[in-house]
Amino acid sequence: MQNFWHDLPQPFFALAPMEAVTDIVFRHTIQRASPPDLWFSEFTNATGWVHAGEKAIGGRLVKTDDEKPIIAQIWGGEPGDMEQLALHCKELGFHGIDINMGCPVKSAVKSGGSALIRKPELAASSIQSAKSAGLPVSVKTRLGYTHLSEWTGWLTHLFKQDIVNLTIHLRTKKEMSKVPAHHELIPGIVRLRDELSPQTLLTINGDIMNRSHGMQIIEQNPGVNGIMIGRGIFTDPYAFEDRSHEHSRNEYIGLLRYQLDLYDQYSHLTKRPYETLKRFYKIYIREFEGASELRDRLMHTRSTDQAREVLDQIVL
Ligand SMILES: Cc1cc2nc3c(=O)[nH]c(=O)nc-3n(C[C@H](O)[C@H](O)[C@H](O)COP(=O)(O)O)c2cc1C
Repeated sequence: MQNFWHDLPQPFFALAPMEAVTDIVFRHTIQRASPPDLWFSEFTNATGWVHAGEKAIGGRLVKTDDEKPIIAQIWGGEPGDMEQLALHCKELGFHGIDINMGCPVKSAVKSGGSALIRKPELAASSIQSAKSAGLPVSVKTRLGYTHLSEWTGWLTHLFKQDIVNLTIHLRTKKEMSKVPAHHELIPGIVRLRDELSPQTLLTINGDIMNRSHGMQIIEQNPGVNGIMIGRGIFTDPYAFEDRSHEHSRNEYIGLLRYQLDLYDQYSHLTKRPYETLKRFYKIYIREFEGASELRDRLMHTRSTDQAREVLDQIVL
């Protein structure tokens, strides 16, 4: 697949990389519900992989050949390790590499993630190293580390790195997810991109709930190329649908059953305990009579078979 970025629809919609969420199982579930134009893996640590191999990264990079286009998101603080992991991702059949420069979690900030906002030279050399694998390289970041005013300097630096796409989660590292995303800054960011690097695509992320919400943002902000949706998928598994409409209880339960089947199919690769599936139940089992009781019963199950037994008892 050549540089797929230029073949994406305009605007394009992406499902955000989310650790312990956007694995092969959940991506395939959303593929059935209503797929985005672009997929990302969960973030994968380069140094962990270089030193400990598959053991360190579990099933984060497991994918199927029909997932297209799919980008491996990597992170770290050692450019040489980023280069090696990027090469490995190419061999695995990923179509692009995205470098995470925004994760605010303590363990990530020690060596990478949003720490790179404070180490612009390291950020630049990580990008250069990842590029040597030969796949298109993009970056996902935040507006700054501590102060909102950092955004112009930081984004100027990134736009000078000749990356194919920049995704901006419209908050600073310090803000975590505690304040509304700064949508008011989008026009200024578009102007900066146009001035410094018009060939770099711009993807906006933060508090965007679904496709129609994304379309509103695009209409208000010409020049934005893509919309990335993260947590919106937890309130609506059909968030990427073209024309949103009501879905029946049976459709939601059908999706959940599909996710249970996929879990069984891939758990030998993802090695995720059954308990990790439970965070998803509230996505499908809600807003109908008896939903909270049903959810409660599902939360007490210990296997996919037990979950299916609970679902079998629903009177349709
Ligand atoms: C459970 C969870 C896991 C996440 N994991 C990642 C990750 O692996 N890589 C990344 O770049 N961002 C990660 N994020 C951040 C999201 O990609 C996104 O930037 C953030 O949730 C804001 O977008 P939203 O308001 O649409 O959710 C994660 C967010 C959540 C809620």
